[in-house]
Amino acid sequence: MHLPHNHPVALSDYTPPDYRVESVHLTVDLHDDVTLVRADLSVVANHDRTKGIRPLVLDGRGLVLRCIALDGKPLTTDEYVRDDETLTIHHVPEQCTVSVSTELKPQENTLLEGLYRSGGTFCTQCEAEGFRRITYFPDRPDVLAAYTVTITADRATCPVLLANGNLAASGDLPDGRHYATWHDPFPKPSYLFALVAGDLVKVEDTFVTKSGRRVALQIYVQSHNRDKCDHAVRSLAEAMRWDEEAFGREYDLDLYMIVAVDDFNFGAMENKGLNVFNSRYVLARPDTATDADYAAIEGVIGHEYFHNWSGNRVTCRDWFQLSVKEGLTIFRDQEFSAAMGSSAVKRIQDVRYLRTHQFPEDAGPLAHPVRPETYDAINNLYTATVYNKGAELIRMLRTLVGHDAFRRGMDLYFDRHDGTGATVENLVSALAEASGRDLTQFMRWYREAGTPEIHVTGSHDADTKAYTLTIRQGVAGGEPLLIPLAMGLLDRNGNELSVHLDGEQAPLEPGRALELSRQEETFCFRGIPEEPVPSLFRGFSAPVRLHYAYTEADLALLMGKDGDLFNRWEAGQRLMTGTILQLVADRRAGQELRLPPALVEACGTLLTSGGNDRAFLAEALTLPSENLLGEQMKEIEVEGIFEARRFVRTALARQLRGELSALWDQCRPTGPYRFEPAETGRRSLAACCLGYLMTLDDPSIRQACLRQFREADNMTDSLSALTLLAHTEGSEGETALAEFHARWREEPLVIDKWFAIQATSPLPDTFARVQRLLEHPDFTLANPNRARSLILSFAVNNPVRFHDRAGGGYRLLADHVIKLNSLNPMIGARMAEPLTRWRRHELNRRERMKTELERIAREPTLARDIRDVVTKGLA
Ligand code: ARG
Ligand code: ZN
Repeated sequence: MHLPHNHPVALSDYTPPDYRVESVHLTVDLHDDVTLVRADLSVVANHDRTKGIRPLVLDGRGLVLRCIALDGKPLTTDEYVRDDETLTIHHVPEQCTVSVSTELKPQENTLLEGLYRSGGTFCTQCEAEGFRRITYFPDRPDVLAAYTVTITADRATCPVLLANGNLAASGDLPDGRHYATWHDPFPKPSYLFALVAGDLVKVEDTFVTKSGRRVALQIYVQSHNRDKCDHAVRSLAEAMRWDEEAFGREYDLDLYMIVAVDDFNFGAMENKGLNVFNSRYVLARPDTATDADYAAIEGVIGHEYFHNWSGNRVTCRDWFQLSVKEGLTIFRDQEFSAAMGSSAVKRIQDVRYLRTHQFPEDAGPLAHPVRPETYDAINNLYTATVYNKGAELIRMLRTLVGHDAFRRGMDLYFDRHDGTGATVENLVSALAEASGRDLTQFMRWYREAGTPEIHVTGSHDADTKAYTLTIRQGVAGGEPLLIPLAMGLLDRNGNELSVHLDGEQAPLEPGRALELSRQEETFCFRGIPEEPVPSLFRGFSAPVRLHYAYTEADLALLMGKDGDLFNRWEAGQRLMTGTILQLVADRRAGQELRLPPALVEACGTLLTSGGNDRAFLAEALTLPSENLLGEQMKEIEVEGIFEARRFVRTALARQLRGELSALWDQCRPTGPYRFEPAETGRRSLAACCLGYLMTLDDPSIRQACLRQFREADNMTDSLSALTLLAHTEGSEGETALAEFHARWREEPLVIDKWFAIQATSPLPDTFARVQRLLEHPDFTLANPNRARSLILSFAVNNPVRFHDRAGGGYRLLADHVIKLNSLNPMIGARMAEPLTRWRRHELNRRERMKTELERIAREPTLARDIRDVVTKGLA
């Protein structure tokens, strides 16, 4: 008998597990050829057996089964049923031990899911459904068990043996082998299991928790990376301290281990007490990693650490609830990073990320709610929507209930659901209870896909000194959302007016948001002497698209004077976007392009009197990307956007050359590299100025850029110079690329940068270059970082070359999706995504993109992850 495997999986089909697993004993004998896994599961029935005894169904994929026993008695093949995805035992007692032995070949596992080898190191990745590739198990997040794991391996090649929890025993075995037994006392779902074995060195520190417990912090890397762990260790300690202060969360084991591996499908994994990381989110030295890398490491180390509470102690009941751990944990890591540096700049970057990745997802064929109702391939649910929009929902909740109630609500949530899997309702209820608010209407945010459009108009009555804002929400489906609107009003000199709602005793306290809950509503403010300029959705208080008819003068005022730094940036972006899109239209109409004085003036003001927050200035002076501009158009005009944006950039540089040079000069380094806010801000403003200056086609500037590339003591300055050289006509680019490769050939993370720079060059020969680079000896599709650095960088971050009208980019992408179909479908599915955006382009491109999707769809055996994306993309 074959049991049905229901796909798509539906939230409405959720039922609690029929059997629980109380404890797991795993023995893993690692060998170069065949690895043996024995699992002893103590299984307890979890259903009413008077109404019939249900079968025990275990998940398993790609396993070689050696034997299976029930309470020590081997089962014969007629006592269980096996198919590609399950093993079913029909008659099991109320309580029993199931013992399963399986064989694996981790060295042949290219999926990087389950147990695999990266550079010789054995490691695991189990979220979401990798554990079933190691042994048969009820592989779902609501089955939580205590694990004891014994690893045996050759001592010479695998001196380090790690698993979750605490080391219980270790010692020698015959034939040069040794063992280690680990015990994790905290019940956990199988997706949090981890095992690592290899020849690694350890970088160590200690952390004393607020209640005085000593925790060993250990980072394991290959020996040549020993000198690149300081920043990761420091970030971990800072994250632990921050979580104690901001959320009252303390670490719970005596040991916290992080292992860096080079081959990893995504960023990192929060396995209990034993995180496994993509090495790019661990390794940093001033000369190999940029400020952006340092910041990303801090953020991801924080993220995985914060999961220890929001994910591990309280996990998710089922994968539909993924955002209760991911949205919440992204929110927590955003707040952490904001506290470590400039919070306004962090907010700007997070919003830019949301708009670049989540908004398009939410507007295309892969759109889904933060809590989806069905899924086909679970790996494709690890999206910007679940993660980043999910984080925005938590942020809105905090705004709505207030910071104090939010903190009480989080305490209640962690307390109440500790040791179990939670749902979105559980999380929102805890906040509702702690604040005494009814948050029923808010739940709609979790159920509905799409970005709400908010239309705002204002009218001022000079006689009554009343100002009225009329706000209309356009949401799919009709029912209004509960939306926090943080706002302020500025007079014509840019002074903040007191915001006093008609009918209320006192003015709105600063930081308090208006709440939108109806399809259309009006807010009337009194005592407003003249027509004000509204500053709306301050701090991006809700993930919406705001429509308000700002004039250029309004935007210039907000840009210079708004008390909310985020909205100062936002006003500048609006002004730039409006200007560039107008030029796209002018170009289409065959008109000569001319830069409007308003933008020059606004940027000039920023350059000369923009204040001393350099990180902010750099953000404010940066033009919206081609992708973000394309987002604003009904049909994306790839060349028009590219040309208009380049025109604006060059024209600004010509007209503000003196100011740019002066500011660049003020931003020269004054000492050795340090990763700290003032210094990262200085470097990013310097790079921004140099970027403008490099558009001037001036050999002396190119020479200065080449000198910076060669002489910088740090990767940030060196790489920004290299990127500009490589993206500009002139021989210096070629020279610098060659020098860079020669210098860094032994550092894979740096070579990734070398590939990415070339893949994102706007120069006309880039497509040919990408084709050549695919044949480069350093290129391999088997390493996800490398595959992304060349192929995805090209497809995602180089619109004008990827979308070449001849369609070569599309063909190249599809070819690699097909290659990844057997090698690593999880990465293949991500690579197919850009093709699903075909509807946004003009007819010729649309057809070509679709043709490539159809070609992928015709592959005889398409992995579920890829099929899911392609099917949705064509639907
Ligand atoms: N939980 C991990 C993190 O966010 C990511 C796991 C991704 N898994 C996947 N199948 N895509 O830290
Ligand atoms: Zn996460």
